[in-house]
Amino acid sequence: MTRIGLLASFVLFLWTGIVAGLTSTLQQVTNFGSNPTNAGMFVYKPTTIKVNPAVIVAIHYCGGSAQAYFTGSPYASLADTYGFIVIYPSSPPRSTTCWDVSSKATLTHNGGGDSNGIANMVAYAISTYKADASHIFVTGTSSGAMMTNVLCATYPEIWRAASVYSGVAAGCFVSSSGAVDAWNSSCAEGQVSQTSSQWASVVHNMFPSYTGPYPPIQEYHGTADTTLFPSNLNEEIKEWSGIFGYNATAPTQVLQNTPLSGYIKSIYGPNLQGISAQGVGHTVPIQGNEDMKWFGFVAGGAAPPPSTTIGSTSTISTTSPPTTTISTSTSVPATTTTTTPPSTGGAAHWDQCGGIGWTGATTCVAPFTCTTLNAYYSQCL
Ligand SMILES: *[C@@H]1O[C@H](CO)[C@@H](O)[C@H](O)[C@H]1NC(C)=O
Ligand SMILES: *[C@@H]1O[C@H](CO)[C@@H](O)[C@H](O)[C@H]1NC(C)=O
Repeated sequence: MTRIGLLASFVLFLWTGIVAGLTSTLQQVTNFGSNPTNAGMFVYKPTTIKVNPAVIVAIHYCGGSAQAYFTGSPYASLADTYGFIVIYPSSPPRSTTCWDVSSKATLTHNGGGDSNGIANMVAYAISTYKADASHIFVTGTSSGAMMTNVLCATYPEIWRAASVYSGVAAGCFVSSSGAVDAWNSSCAEGQVSQTSSQWASVVHNMFPSYTGPYPPIQEYHGTADTTLFPSNLNEEIKEWSGIFGYNATAPTQVLQNTPLSGYIKSIYGPNLQGISAQGVGHTVPIQGNEDMKWFGFVAGGAAPPPSTTIGSTSTISTTSPPTTTISTSTSVPATTTTTTPPSTGGAAHWDQCGGIGWTGATTCVAPFTCTTLNAYYSQCL
């Protein structure tokens, strides 16, 4: 699938993602600091925020915008409930509204790329809104999910935790010619495979002088994703397993039908979870309430372990969110969901063909062989 397909799949969503009943509005911030690639900064600040609020940076997909992600994701509504601030970065003016995750500049700490501009938005929020520097989170969908992995690699010191909806490993979408915002078919189509230690080197090389911890990260991916093929989840897991010292083929826990029916959550250690959404295409719908747990706004997340009272006031009870108003399925881009497994003839090259919980085809079209990558994922190779 090409970038055109990626754009087309979001068109409907752009015009239907209305979030009603918010306490405040989206505001653009100009002059937030050094902005080497001219990215936009948009902020949602609820009328009631905590003293020293937490911040969630929520990054849009290709073809999207800050405004579209604001209306089409649950974070503004969750901000009203929990009293945090949301920053919606908007991609620089280019022919497509994708994020640059391919150039050396963006794949380098303070390298002058898109990632650098987003990091500076956070610095602005900390100094201007007195945000709590120890509770800054990042999340994104598709191109924004790729950028989330890149930001965890290039600015690990900023983030308390991250969640990634249908992305690729940081440094997978690299351009061999150094091009900005380049499409990388071999990564997209699941042909890039590296070991955990190779991926860990890729991450370390983006910020070689850094010796501190990396943020806990949740990686969501659909098994029917034909834009960023499902094996990208495995590469993401290998990458961060390499960083955290986990065994990417031996999750410590596997939870069926978690957090939704047909989703399988594999826990590799306190800092890494992979959530494989069976039969879901590009992209996995945002699980807002799960993010609230993972980020520590609600008790019950397996990781990370921040205190449940984020911010120094406790006027907003952590038990207040009525589940009826914070839907986890509010018009997020769930565009190509399918539950139909490949039919006769077997699965296509690069497709999934087995693993615990898999109900689709278990053979591959010739000449490919169903190869077991781990207990949860076999692929036609
Ligand atoms: C795509 O990314 C891989 C690394 O993931 C790299 O080896 C390859 O050269 C890239 N392709 C292009 C055309 O730049
Ligand atoms: C990782 O887990 C696999 C599967 O359980 C096992 O075969 C392998 O030896 C483990 N690797 C390490 C380095 O412990």
